[in-house]
Amino acid sequence: MNDNKLVLKRPRVVSGARTTGPLHLGNYHGALKNWVDLQHQYECYFFAADWHALTTEYEQPARIAEYTREMILDWLGAGIDPKSCTLYVQSHVPEHAELSLLLSMITPLSWLERVPTYKELRSKLKEKHLATYGFLGYPVLQSADILLYKPEFVPVGEDQVSHIELTREIARHFNHLYQNRLEGSGVFPEPQALLTKTPKMPGLDGQKMSKSYHNTIGLREDPKVVEQKIKTMPTDPARVRRSDPGEPEKCPVWRFHQIYSSSETQEWVLKGCRSAGIGCLDCKRPVIESVIVEQAVMIKRVEPYQKDPALVQDIVREGCKIARAKAQETIEEVRSVMGLTTVNTIGSK
Ligand code: TRP
Ligand code: SF4
Repeated sequence: MNDNKLVLKRPRVVSGARTTGPLHLGNYHGALKNWVDLQHQYECYFFAADWHALTTEYEQPARIAEYTREMILDWLGAGIDPKSCTLYVQSHVPEHAELSLLLSMITPLSWLERVPTYKELRSKLKEKHLATYGFLGYPVLQSADILLYKPEFVPVGEDQVSHIELTREIARHFNHLYQNRLEGSGVFPEPQALLTKTPKMPGLDGQKMSKSYHNTIGLREDPKVVEQKIKTMPTDPARVRRSDPGEPEKCPVWRFHQIYSSSETQEWVLKGCRSAGIGCLDCKRPVIESVIVEQAVMIKRVEPYQKDPALVQDIVREGCKIARAKAQETIEEVRSVMGLTTVNTIGSK
């Protein structure tokens, strides 16, 4: 692209994703694709939130490491370019934990108890015993993830807006309590959510695509499995026989066409479905085709990394190094304004 861009200082963004399972097309269209676009305009820090995975998966952590590795592969497959962004793993940058601890000192319990995702998830995931300190503190850790890098923006989905709002409140409260003596300004900026505008990706059953609904298509799933999954997707129940007309608005396959198909194909579906001119299997063909083509690109991109895991290790090692350097800068500042000694102040007056 334009080389001049690299010289100019780009606004910074930070975002993370929990490593709780293999990524699916919902993750791709809902977030990852947006990250891929952002990497050219912003200075991007993207990390695998494995500590956040533990907040809900602490009873069964066996697969978190595997999910972390796979997620980085998925990112690379989706087109995240490690030359344009910093990719790292949360637990490899221990400053996230230190800042989380320090922010927890100033965060009123009531702020955490009123975060909507807290109550919602606790009741939704009853079997997971989420009455823990770590789960309540989830948004404090997230605030630390963000504020460590002093970003302007945080690309997230709608469901995360309350966490970003809390991050801003914590930053404001922190700045109010502790002044940075050097500049007389607050230590932290108040970052803003950068909402993804993409349409919600439906799952195979028409509900939102989500691991917990078992209605996903994996990001790099075997084409044969993809074909089978789409072939067996439910359609408008009114189309019992081939000769029964249907209504695309009542059919999850149509939602896939809206994401994947050209306007001509969409026109063909609308007409053909309503007039019973096409069968559901005919209708699904172009969707199967498009999903498989999209995935083939990702599968191909990942191949060299799968052949040589050292490549991925190097990317993450390098990313962690860059992230840590930035994180340590912030932590030194925070320690200093919070009355803690830093390397430079111990032993001197
Ligand atoms: N809570 C986010 C989610 O569930 C993941 C996350 C953790 C995150 N730390 C973050 C997102 C920091 C943005 C910035 O999607
Ligand atoms: Fe759904 Fe297509 Fe069948 Fe109509 S023709 S019901 S849109 S799969």
